Amino acid sequence: MPAPASDPSTDRRADEQRAAALRAEIAEHDERYYVLDEPSVSDAEYDALMRELRELEARHPDLVVPESPTQRPGGAAAATFAPVVHDVAMRSLDNAFDDADLVAWSERIAKLVPGPVAYVGEPKLDGLAISLLYVDGRLVRAATRGDGVTGEDVTANVATIASVPAVLKATKAAPVPARMEVRGEIFMPLEAFAALNRRQGEAGDRLFANPRNAAAGSLRQKDATVTASRALDFYAYQAEVTDGTLPADSHHAMLTWLQRVGFPVNPHIERFTDIAAVAEFCARVEAQRHSLGYDIDGAVVKVDDLAQRAEMGSTARAPRWAIAFKFPPEEKTTVLRDIGVSIGRTGRATPYAVLEPVFVGGSTVEFATLHNPDEVARKDVRPGDTVTVRKAGDVIPEVVGPVLAKRPKRSKPWTFPAECPSCGGPLVRLGDEADAHCVNVECSAQRVARIVYFAGRGAMDIEGLGEERVRQFVDAGLLVDPGDIYALTVERLVPLERMAAKSAENLVAAVAASKAQGLARVLTGLGVRHFGPTAAQAVARAYGDLDRIAAASVEELTAIEGIGPVIAESIHAAFASPANRRVLDKLRAAGLDLTAPTAPAATGGALEGRTFVLTGTLDDLTRDEAAALIEAQGGKVTGSVSKKTSYVVAGASPGSKLTKAESLGVPVLDGDAFARLLAHGPED
Ligand code: IVH
Repeated sequence: MPAPASDPSTDRRADEQRAAALRAEIAEHDERYYVLDEPSVSDAEYDALMRELRELEARHPDLVVPESPTQRPGGAAAATFAPVVHDVAMRSLDNAFDDADLVAWSERIAKLVPGPVAYVGEPKLDGLAISLLYVDGRLVRAATRGDGVTGEDVTANVATIASVPAVLKATKAAPVPARMEVRGEIFMPLEAFAALNRRQGEAGDRLFANPRNAAAGSLRQKDATVTASRALDFYAYQAEVTDGTLPADSHHAMLTWLQRVGFPVNPHIERFTDIAAVAEFCARVEAQRHSLGYDIDGAVVKVDDLAQRAEMGSTARAPRWAIAFKFPPEEKTTVLRDIGVSIGRTGRATPYAVLEPVFVGGSTVEFATLHNPDEVARKDVRPGDTVTVRKAGDVIPEVVGPVLAKRPKRSKPWTFPAECPSCGGPLVRLGDEADAHCVNVECSAQRVARIVYFAGRGAMDIEGLGEERVRQFVDAGLLVDPGDIYALTVERLVPLERMAAKSAENLVAAVAASKAQGLARVLTGLGVRHFGPTAAQAVARAYGDLDRIAAASVEELTAIEGIGPVIAESIHAAFASPANRRVLDKLRAAGLDLTAPTAPAATGGALEGRTFVLTGTLDDLTRDEAAALIEAQGGKVTGSVSKKTSYVVAGASPGSKLTKAESLGVPVLDGDAFARLLAHGPED
């Protein structure tokens, strides 16, 4: 029997139901608008729904829930993400590369506990780890892994991901813990990735290199509506209960429970009682890796029993009770259509492979560097050959070598051209140098490369000034050197082909905005040999303005931490060159900021007074992230190894810096030792 409308309790119930219905309806419209790109209501109708919900919530403030669309931050969110210290550190995983590593791991951990060990095998999703904090069953905070101890608060963005539950399905009989952190992986399915890059391409925006980067970029948006448009997905793989009792005593049971309360859990997860079956599972997952619809880079094997896990414990870097089984890089064969030669900003001539497009390691590959003339000769790859291709370090495409059985008859070894493909000048190879160079400073390919480098992400970061545009402007005579960029105007650009008024305006605005980038980026942009971003930052900080650097002697430059005699010579020579002086004069006349803060680095940290050099790639940190962690503890990062260097951190494929460190007796840290140093500080 419906009660009369005047009964306040019934009023409240009706309002509560209406509010829930409105939230659901608005969520559906949001999805249609942001995700599917096919809104079914007008903006006015949408606004009316929002207004009604706001009124209801104003009448009953207790109806306001954090996941209500009324609580969403508006278009522009905070400029930076607030730091979040994780309740329980987010560790990384140790790696196994083959069955023998896997068996060795199982033998190691078996000694740490009495009784048999059961395992759970899971696909290793190639996305980003996320920590979701639920208080009384509601999502209150989402944070990235960050350095494992401190992450970033990305709650507003994560709240837009449909598969992350905002409220858990709890019942009186099966309540959820009062405070619980659920961890899992946010990733972008391959189809969504392809669609996103298609849209980016059509809009003239930058393409993402792979789904992982796309997911990371989408999550770190200042504007959560952009995240909402990116079709991210999520799988949960762990729960940390810090308040209340664990809802299960094994990992497998925990995953089942997570699923019951509303989390998506990967369907390819299985439990095993012996390691041989785990190895078979890893092989099975590897065989399926390209038919899952999302990228994985291995399998994760975990001890099932939570009490056993607690006994096994963790190191600073990783738990002992889990291991990542990494897949070897995938190889494919394709036809080498041709070998081209590209000319870099210093005139270096680099051979590259033009391939029949092939999908390998998660993306389509059409070009691959062949490094230098000797490398082509060593591999003896010839146009027309069928070649094996893979991603080195799973990122950079690489030609492994020819499939000789498929070599066309009468094929001849490829010979390095004697002339520059751009200007026709001679390609010169001096003495024992690995590279050939085009020595014509007027060469337009070199000009293009110099300007592209100046405008590029590592330097002035001018959006819309990519290689194609720069080539067009150089050919049209608008640009000769980087200094000319600041003389571009809408009037001069609009007459060009494929240049709408709007693009011209955007480009001119981006150019103007780059004037404020500061001295370190300008120095980097000059592309002086050996003078990379780290060294440029050190010099900019030490001198504070361009004129003082230009006046510095080699000896003075060498006195800067991280600047050795080779870089110092190179900088000095660059400032003496009339061509560079002309560029700098133009930049000064255009009003660029040619100063830098000379603020001292952070002090008082555990790494104060230590200098680090980074080489190679670390498993779970980019070079910038590693440098930030060092600097956060008062340490310094420099670009070259000297006797003054405290440590060299060497990741995979380290360069000559490692050899140098060894010859100078500088301590070398691998990724694990580096993580230990960050966690515990230096031993002395
Ligand atoms: S468990 C302490 N399970 O791999 C154990 N991690 O290399 C924490 N990852 O940062 C991780 N799929 O982002 C676990 N099924 C899975 C995973 C997984 C992907 C990622 C995660 C972690 C990284 C470690």
